[in-house]
Amino acid sequence: MKNFIIAGNWKMNCPDIPAFAAALPAQEPGPTVIIAPPFPFIPAALRAFLRCGVGVSAQDVSAHERGAFTGEVSAEHLASLGARYAIVGHSERRAYHGETNELVCAKASVALRHGLTPIICVGETMEQRRLGDTEAVLTRGVSQSANGLDPSKIIVAYEPVWAIGTGIAATALDAERAAELIAELVPGAPVLYGGSVTPDNARELLSKRHISGALIGGASLGADSLGAIINTAISLSKEAEEL
Ligand code: 13P
Repeated sequence: MKNFIIAGNWKMNCPDIPAFAAALPAQEPGPTVIIAPPFPFIPAALRAFLRCGVGVSAQDVSAHERGAFTGEVSAEHLASLGARYAIVGHSERRAYHGETNELVCAKASVALRHGLTPIICVGETMEQRRLGDTEAVLTRGVSQSANGLDPSKIIVAYEPVWAIGTGIAATALDAERAAELIAELVPGAPVLYGGSVTPDNARELLSKRHISGALIGGASLGADSLGAIINTAISLSKEAEEL
Protein backbone atom coordinates (compact mmCIF):
# COMPACT_ATOMS: atom_id res chain seq x y z
CA MET A 1 0.00 0.00 0.00
CA LYS A 2 1.21 3.49 -0.82
CA ASN A 3 2.10 5.87 1.96
CA PHE A 4 0.84 9.01 0.26
CA ILE A 5 2.76 12.26 0.51
CA ILE A 6 0.69 15.41 0.18
CA ALA A 7 2.94 18.47 -0.01
CA GLY A 8 1.86 22.10 -0.24
CA ASN A 9 4.21 24.65 -1.80
CA TRP A 10 3.02 28.06 -0.70
CA LYS A 11 5.55 29.86 -2.92
CA MET A 12 5.64 33.61 -2.05
CA ASN A 13 2.27 33.51 -0.25
CA CYS A 14 1.35 32.86 3.33
CA PRO A 15 -2.12 32.19 4.73
CA ASP A 16 -2.86 32.66 8.45
CA ILE A 17 -0.88 29.72 9.80
CA PRO A 18 -2.65 28.98 13.12
CA ALA A 19 -6.08 29.18 11.45
CA PHE A 20 -4.85 26.99 8.62
CA ALA A 21 -3.46 24.37 11.01
CA ALA A 22 -6.69 24.33 13.01
CA ALA A 23 -8.76 23.74 9.87
CA LEU A 24 -6.74 20.79 8.49
CA PRO A 25 -8.32 17.35 8.87
CA ALA A 26 -6.91 15.09 11.58
CA GLN A 27 -4.62 12.59 9.89
CA GLU A 28 -3.83 9.80 12.31
CA PRO A 29 -3.25 7.47 10.53
CA GLY A 30 -2.99 9.29 7.26
CA PRO A 31 -0.72 10.50 4.51
CA THR A 32 2.52 12.31 5.17
CA VAL A 33 1.57 15.98 4.93
CA ILE A 34 4.21 18.61 4.24
CA ILE A 35 3.88 22.39 4.01
CA ALA A 36 6.55 24.62 2.48
CA PRO A 37 5.97 28.22 3.63
CA PRO A 38 8.20 31.16 2.71
CA PHE A 39 11.46 31.14 4.75
CA PRO A 40 10.42 33.79 7.34
CA PHE A 41 7.33 31.76 8.30
CA ILE A 42 9.11 28.44 8.89
CA PRO A 43 9.28 28.94 12.69
CA ALA A 44 5.57 29.84 12.92
CA ALA A 45 4.72 26.86 10.70
CA LEU A 46 6.80 24.56 12.88
CA ARG A 47 4.98 25.78 15.99
CA ALA A 48 1.53 25.37 14.46
CA PHE A 49 2.03 22.23 12.39
CA LEU A 50 4.22 19.97 14.50
CA ARG A 51 1.30 19.44 16.86
CA CYS A 52 -0.82 18.08 14.02
CA GLY A 53 1.95 15.97 12.52
CA VAL A 54 2.54 18.14 9.44
CA GLY A 55 6.17 18.28 8.33
CA VAL A 56 7.66 21.63 7.36
CA SER A 57 9.76 22.14 4.25
CA ALA A 58 11.85 24.95 2.86
CA GLN A 59 11.17 26.01 -0.72
CA ASP A 60 14.88 26.12 -1.53
CA VAL A 61 18.25 25.69 0.17
CA SER A 62 21.76 26.92 -0.51
CA ALA A 63 24.21 24.59 -2.24
CA HIS A 64 26.88 25.96 0.12
CA GLU A 65 27.52 24.84 3.68
CA ARG A 66 28.10 28.31 5.14
CA GLY A 67 30.01 31.51 4.54
CA ALA A 68 29.86 34.65 2.44
CA PHE A 69 26.71 33.93 0.43
CA THR A 70 24.46 36.91 1.06
CA GLY A 71 20.79 36.07 0.95
CA GLU A 72 21.29 32.31 0.92
CA VAL A 73 19.79 30.00 3.55
CA SER A 74 21.81 27.00 4.69
CA ALA A 75 20.59 23.45 5.19
CA GLU A 76 22.25 23.46 8.60
CA HIS A 77 20.18 26.45 9.74
CA LEU A 78 16.97 25.00 8.34
CA ALA A 79 17.59 21.67 10.05
CA SER A 80 18.44 23.42 13.31
CA LEU A 81 15.01 25.10 13.24
CA GLY A 82 13.31 21.73 12.81
CA ALA A 83 12.48 21.80 9.09
CA ARG A 84 12.60 18.28 7.65
CA TYR A 85 12.40 18.79 3.89
CA ALA A 86 13.70 21.16 1.22
CA ILE A 87 12.22 21.59 -2.23
CA VAL A 88 15.04 21.88 -4.75
CA GLY A 89 15.01 22.63 -8.47
CA HIS A 90 11.47 23.94 -8.66
CA SER A 91 10.86 25.07 -12.24
CA GLU A 92 10.37 28.65 -11.03
CA ARG A 93 13.90 28.59 -9.60
CA ARG A 94 15.22 26.94 -12.75
CA ALA A 95 13.49 29.55 -14.95
CA TYR A 96 14.01 32.75 -12.92
CA HIS A 97 17.29 31.95 -11.19
CA GLY A 98 19.05 29.88 -13.83
CA GLU A 99 19.32 26.77 -11.68
CA THR A 100 20.84 23.79 -13.49
CA ASN A 101 20.55 20.09 -12.74
CA GLU A 102 24.09 20.18 -11.35
CA LEU A 103 23.25 23.00 -8.92
CA VAL A 104 20.04 21.22 -7.93
CA CYS A 105 22.06 18.09 -7.19
CA ALA A 106 24.48 20.11 -5.04
CA LYS A 107 21.52 21.56 -3.12
CA ALA A 108 19.99 18.11 -2.62
CA SER A 109 23.33 16.74 -1.40
CA VAL A 110 23.84 19.48 1.17
CA ALA A 111 20.22 19.03 2.33
CA LEU A 112 20.84 15.31 2.82
CA ARG A 113 24.07 15.96 4.71
CA HIS A 114 22.01 17.88 7.28
CA GLY A 115 19.19 15.37 7.53
CA LEU A 116 16.70 17.20 5.31
CA THR A 117 14.83 15.19 2.70
CA PRO A 118 15.18 16.93 -0.66
CA ILE A 119 12.08 17.13 -2.84
CA ILE A 120 13.72 17.28 -6.27
CA CYS A 121 11.53 18.82 -8.97
CA VAL A 122 11.79 17.95 -12.65
CA GLY A 123 9.50 18.59 -15.58
CA GLU A 124 9.36 19.50 -19.23
CA THR A 125 8.29 22.79 -20.78
CA MET A 126 5.51 22.92 -23.37
CA GLU A 127 8.13 23.45 -26.08
CA GLN A 128 10.09 20.38 -24.99
CA ARG A 129 6.87 18.40 -24.91
CA ARG A 130 5.90 19.56 -28.41
CA LEU A 131 9.32 18.48 -29.68
CA GLY A 132 8.83 15.01 -28.18
CA ASP A 133 11.65 15.58 -25.69
CA THR A 134 9.75 14.83 -22.48
CA GLU A 135 11.45 11.50 -21.78
CA ALA A 136 14.90 12.85 -22.51
CA VAL A 137 14.33 15.93 -20.32
CA LEU A 138 13.07 13.81 -17.43
CA THR A 139 15.84 11.24 -17.77
CA ARG A 140 18.49 13.96 -17.83
CA GLY A 141 16.75 15.93 -15.09
CA VAL A 142 16.50 13.02 -12.70
CA SER A 143 19.85 11.39 -13.40
CA GLN A 144 21.75 14.68 -13.13
CA SER A 145 19.74 16.25 -10.29
CA ALA A 146 19.85 13.09 -8.18
CA ASN A 147 23.31 12.00 -9.35
CA GLY A 148 24.93 9.82 -6.69
CA LEU A 149 22.12 10.31 -4.17
CA ASP A 150 20.50 7.45 -2.27
CA PRO A 151 17.01 7.10 -3.84
CA SER A 152 15.57 5.90 -0.54
CA LYS A 153 16.40 9.28 1.00
CA ILE A 154 14.89 11.57 -1.63
CA ILE A 155 11.49 12.50 -3.02
CA VAL A 156 11.08 13.40 -6.69
CA ALA A 157 8.28 15.64 -7.93
CA TYR A 158 7.25 15.45 -11.58
CA GLU A 159 6.01 18.94 -12.35
CA PRO A 160 5.40 19.62 -16.05
CA VAL A 161 6.14 23.33 -16.38
CA TRP A 162 3.12 23.93 -18.62
CA ALA A 163 0.79 22.54 -15.95
CA ILE A 164 1.98 24.79 -13.13
CA GLY A 165 -0.52 27.47 -12.22
CA THR A 166 -2.37 27.09 -15.51
CA GLY A 167 -5.38 25.08 -14.38
CA ILE A 168 -4.42 22.44 -16.95
CA ALA A 169 -3.08 19.38 -15.18
CA ALA A 170 -1.37 16.55 -17.02
CA THR A 171 -3.73 13.69 -17.72
CA ALA A 172 -3.43 10.95 -15.13
CA LEU A 173 -2.13 8.67 -17.88
CA ASP A 174 0.66 11.08 -18.91
CA ALA A 175 1.55 11.77 -15.28
CA GLU A 176 1.70 8.05 -14.61
CA ARG A 177 3.92 7.46 -17.64
CA ALA A 178 6.36 10.12 -16.39
CA ALA A 179 6.20 8.81 -12.82
CA GLU A 180 6.97 5.29 -14.02
CA LEU A 181 10.00 6.51 -15.95
CA ILE A 182 11.22 8.41 -12.89
CA ALA A 183 10.63 5.39 -10.65
CA GLU A 184 12.86 3.33 -12.94
CA LEU A 185 15.63 5.92 -12.67
CA VAL A 186 15.46 6.24 -8.88
CA PRO A 187 13.92 2.99 -7.63
CA GLY A 188 12.44 3.39 -4.19
CA ALA A 189 12.08 7.18 -4.30
CA PRO A 190 8.46 8.32 -3.95
CA VAL A 191 7.32 10.22 -7.04
CA LEU A 192 4.86 13.09 -6.60
CA TYR A 193 2.88 14.77 -9.34
CA GLY A 194 2.59 18.57 -9.32
CA GLY A 195 0.86 21.02 -11.64
CA SER A 196 -2.73 22.24 -11.19
CA VAL A 197 -3.66 19.52 -8.68
CA THR A 198 -7.09 20.26 -7.21
CA PRO A 199 -9.61 18.39 -5.07
CA ASP A 200 -11.35 17.52 -8.36
CA ASN A 201 -8.47 15.77 -10.10
CA ALA A 202 -6.55 14.44 -7.07
CA ARG A 203 -8.31 11.09 -6.92
CA GLU A 204 -7.56 10.18 -10.51
CA LEU A 205 -3.92 11.23 -10.26
CA LEU A 206 -3.27 9.62 -6.87
CA SER A 207 -4.88 6.36 -8.01
CA LYS A 208 -2.05 5.78 -10.46
CA ARG A 209 0.40 3.10 -9.46
CA HIS A 210 3.64 5.10 -9.64
CA ILE A 211 2.25 8.36 -8.26
CA SER A 212 2.87 8.42 -4.51
CA GLY A 213 1.50 11.85 -3.81
CA ALA A 214 1.12 15.42 -4.94
CA LEU A 215 3.06 18.67 -4.79
CA ILE A 216 0.39 21.35 -4.74
CA GLY A 217 0.70 25.09 -5.31
CA GLY A 218 -2.50 27.14 -5.55
CA ALA A 219 -4.81 24.55 -4.00
CA SER A 220 -2.54 24.25 -0.95
CA LEU A 221 -3.23 27.84 0.07
CA GLY A 222 -6.68 27.01 1.39
CA ALA A 223 -7.05 24.58 4.28
CA ASP A 224 -10.34 23.44 2.72
CA SER A 225 -8.86 22.51 -0.63
CA LEU A 226 -5.69 21.02 0.81
CA GLY A 227 -7.85 19.20 3.36
CA ALA A 228 -10.00 17.76 0.59
CA ILE A 229 -6.90 16.40 -1.16
CA ILE A 230 -5.63 14.92 2.14
CA ASN A 231 -9.03 13.29 2.61
CA THR A 232 -8.83 11.84 -0.89
CA ALA A 233 -5.49 10.24 0.00
CA ILE A 234 -6.98 8.90 3.23
CA SER A 235 -9.91 7.32 1.42
CA LEU A 236 -7.71 5.82 -1.32
CA SER A 237 -5.55 4.22 1.40
CA LYS A 238 -8.65 2.84 3.12
CA GLU A 239 -9.98 1.44 -0.14
CA ALA A 240 -6.62 -0.24 -0.84
CA GLU A 241 -6.68 -1.80 2.63
CA GLU A 242 -10.13 -3.21 2.06
CA LEU A 243 -9.14 -4.95 -1.17
P1 13P B 1 -0.03 24.74 -8.92
O1 13P B 1 -0.62 23.62 -8.09
O2 13P B 1 -0.50 26.08 -8.50
O3 13P B 1 -0.17 24.47 -10.37
O4 13P B 1 1.55 24.74 -8.60
C1 13P B 1 2.26 23.56 -8.65
C2 13P B 1 3.61 23.78 -8.11
O5 13P B 1 4.40 24.50 -8.70
C3 13P B 1 3.96 23.14 -6.84
O6 13P B 1 5.32 23.21 -6.59
